[in-house]
Amino acid sequence: MRRYHVTTFGCQMNAHDSERIKGLLEELGLGEAPSQEQADVIVLNTCTIREKPDTRFAAHMGNAAKAKRDRPGTVVAVGGCYAEAQRERLFALYPDVDVAFGPGTISHLGDWLGAGGEGVARGSFGTGEERTFAARLPVRRERRFQAWVQVSMGCNSVCSYCIVPAVRGRETSRRPGEVLAEIEQLAAEGVREVTLLGQNVNSYGRDLGSSFAELLRACDAVPGIERIRFTSPHPKDFRQDVIAAMAECAAVCEHAHLPLQSGSSRILKAMRRTYSRERYLRLVAELRAAIPDLALTTDIIAGFPGETDADFRETLEVVEEVGYDGAFTFVYSPRAGTEAAAMPDQVPDKLKRERIERLVEVVQRVAAGRNAGRVGMVEEVLVEGPSRTDSGLLRGRTRRNTTVNFSGDAASGELVSVAIEGATSTTLAGMQLALAVA
Ligand code: SAH
Ligand code: SF4
Ligand code: F3S
Repeated sequence: MRRYHVTTFGCQMNAHDSERIKGLLEELGLGEAPSQEQADVIVLNTCTIREKPDTRFAAHMGNAAKAKRDRPGTVVAVGGCYAEAQRERLFALYPDVDVAFGPGTISHLGDWLGAGGEGVARGSFGTGEERTFAARLPVRRERRFQAWVQVSMGCNSVCSYCIVPAVRGRETSRRPGEVLAEIEQLAAEGVREVTLLGQNVNSYGRDLGSSFAELLRACDAVPGIERIRFTSPHPKDFRQDVIAAMAECAAVCEHAHLPLQSGSSRILKAMRRTYSRERYLRLVAELRAAIPDLALTTDIIAGFPGETDADFRETLEVVEEVGYDGAFTFVYSPRAGTEAAAMPDQVPDKLKRERIERLVEVVQRVAAGRNAGRVGMVEEVLVEGPSRTDSGLLRGRTRRNTTVNFSGDAASGELVSVAIEGATSTTLAGMQLALAVA
């Protein structure tokens, strides 16, 4: 049997796309190889959000090129956002690439790999017009009891630093009926937790006369789905109806990932985020008033062009004021073709690094304090497997999306009550009390 190996870079959308790529390849009769070295078809599902994933991809291409020399006949397929961004130059930059595809053209992969018996169509690349939902393809899920569900593709925002709209195109929502049919099917297969995926889930449905709030309520009504998560909501589109749905739907988890990007209204304007520091903080207050136990996490960029020390201090202030339970922090990385890359006053690397270090320090201190506040409480935990740090312990996540390492005997996929006894800035520790849901 011919075998494939998929390496995934980037965000949850890409991780989910990779599940579809695997499903497609298995439908074509390929099996999964344990490593790149043993694969006949090497797939790299790329990201280009910052410079770092581009560099990591280059290193992987070096390995793939070696695999082709060692084992002639090995096929190298490159998909995802970097492939799409470099579609004009990819084959020239990396002559070892046989087949390339973008996030919207996964469904063509089979044809290009020669599934019809014509042999590999070297140098193929679909056009932007052919974009279709990967969600229509077969899927090979990583976990039996958790699933990602794509609700939209593309992004209509124009954040000045971001490459995503250029590579993933305009926003298109999946029909609610299609999303729900998938979730009902997942529930029938034993899935208990779904994460709804879109670049801006809060603008879901506008192109269809539907809304994200309605979708949340419909998902909540699917029997067997105990937890609903979503990522990412854009603060500018987070409306009352979604807040109410979060508060009222039992399955919707008490967690919002609410990207801040910067705490300075001046920088937010240059980023074209279309909210101010004050409006963001008002939204946080509204969310907390409606959902008292809400966990908040965020994304923050340090060193955006023109960011002064005073702007940066405003970001630190907002981190303290909101009290985030966790944050992904990024050094600003200029992306070719974006508005911000051409702005004057690019912040020098050394200063960007200094700022990110200060930011990480504050984020960790604030998150450690938030987690310490959970000690003594009992949390409902969905068991995900053995702990990564101590194989004698189990690992799972609370409804608020915090990882817990705990002693217990539950099986993966079970919901258990865990008494929280300890905390770090990123995890909780505890002891299983009982099965929370039979
Ligand atoms: N659509 C989602 C995710 C976008 S990418 C959202 O809007 O929330 C994830 C994060 O990467 C962004 O939230 C941002 O913080 C970061 N990011 C995007 N472009 C970047 C760049 N050029 N440099 C540094 N960080 C960036
Ligand atoms: Fe990028 Fe902004 Fe769209 Fe998120 S909302 S994908 S940051 S353009
Ligand atoms: Fe995701 Fe990276 Fe593309 S973050 S949308 S895989 S550029």
